Amino acid sequence: MDFSFKYAQYSHFNLLSKKDQKLVDAAFEAMNKAYAPYSEFQVGASVLLGNRHVVLGNNQENLAYPSGLCAERVALFYAGANYPNEVIDTICIVAKGSLISKELQISPCGACRQVMIESSMRQSAPIRVIMVNQDNRTLVIDRAEDLLPFTFFK
Ligand code: THU
Repeated sequence: MDFSFKYAQYSHFNLLSKKDQKLVDAAFEAMNKAYAPYSEFQVGASVLLGNRHVVLGNNQENLAYPSGLCAERVALFYAGANYPNEVIDTICIVAKGSLISKELQISPCGACRQVMIESSMRQSAPIRVIMVNQDNRTLVIDRAEDLLPFTFFK
């Protein structure tokens, strides 16, 4: 058995399409509004919907640490709560902070991948994932499910 997947890599997000760059800008805007006083690691997520609306999320921390939530799930759950019938086309993730060294790949945690994949299965359509590193290098994955083989699903 084997598992592999394809992704695109760019040296800078300004090599993306104009449409994707707008999504990156929106994710940065969200990142700068994150509430992350404990980790000092600010994450922003932007979600492009089928109706072309963009919804934003950022990490929301709490003194009772596990009560906080990641940026990706804030954005995806906001989309689910407010636009339950809209397809999620793309999610873009950006982050800043010294928790992760600048040259390392930013990528969503396992719980956020699980939620992305259920959103994708619900809508029977793939969700693209754009991940922008702190050094601006960018990965684009066409199908969120590629990020989590053996997803928990029924
Ligand atoms: N965080 C996210 O927002 N997304 C992820 O995919 C991983 C981690 C947040 C959670 C916490 O507020 C901070 O980053 C440090 O873990």
